[in-house]
Amino acid sequence: MKWLRPLLLQALACVAAWLFVAPALMPAAWAILQGMIAAALAIAHRLPPWQRLTHGLFVPAVVLMQQLALPGWIYLLALLLTVAVGRNALSERVPLYRSSGEASRRLAQLLPEDASLLEAGCGDGRLTVQLAAQRPDVKIDALENAWGSWLLARLRWARAGRPLRLQVRCRSFWGQSWANYDVVYVFLSPEPMPRVWRKFVAEGRPGSKLISNTFVVPDVKPDERVPLDGALQKELLIWHHPHGPH
Ligand SMILES: C[S@@+](CC[C@H](N)C(=O)[O-])C[C@H]1O[C@@H](n2cnc3c(N)ncnc32)[C@H](O)[C@@H]1O
Repeated sequence: MKWLRPLLLQALACVAAWLFVAPALMPAAWAILQGMIAAALAIAHRLPPWQRLTHGLFVPAVVLMQQLALPGWIYLLALLLTVAVGRNALSERVPLYRSSGEASRRLAQLLPEDASLLEAGCGDGRLTVQLAAQRPDVKIDALENAWGSWLLARLRWARAGRPLRLQVRCRSFWGQSWANYDVVYVFLSPEPMPRVWRKFVAEGRPGSKLISNTFVVPDVKPDERVPLDGALQKELLIWHHPHGPH
């Protein structure tokens, strides 16, 4: 029921603002007050800074858009684009954000010679195309199931001259066996990490490695940690397959 909390917070802020300003008479003033109350509630609940901001801006943005009186198809288009790149934010709790340049360089250094790599959730393909350029010896299988992001990744792949050892496919990495890879790279969110670990242990080949950008596997200590300088991307965590040589 995690999705209920933001709804309740917004509804509470709407009602609280209504006590002071009538929305039908002064919609802009009501919306601004609602945003301030919503942001204050988000702070009181110790939500992370980006959620405080989105709570504060949500209703003011809706009221502003209403006043702009845009045609209905623009909202439909915006919804389609959001789903096209962000469907996994809803279904997997994994939005689209990208590995930093530093993470990409470090990862390229870590990959064994002639390795086969699964990039599980390749987003818009920036990382995968960079890796293909930096490590042409590595065979890369890049999977993405948000079709808008996958399309962008295919465009990058085509613009990079269609590297032969890089495959960019539109499919879920849960439905793919992880048995044929030397390395599985993930940059997802805390939510799927326990399932990622179970799949790696069940299917990964002995001697293979799981590399996660920033997100830990609860209660499983990584075998190696490679620090990164980023404020949000702090380290690459590496686990060796438990049934392989260490
Ligand atoms: C945080 S982004 C990372 C993108 C890229 N790997 C990088 O490091 O720059 C995670 C991506 O995983 C994708 N994703 C999440 N669950 C997925 C699944 N089950 N199958 C395929 N892709 C998935 C999301 O759509 C998103 O594009």
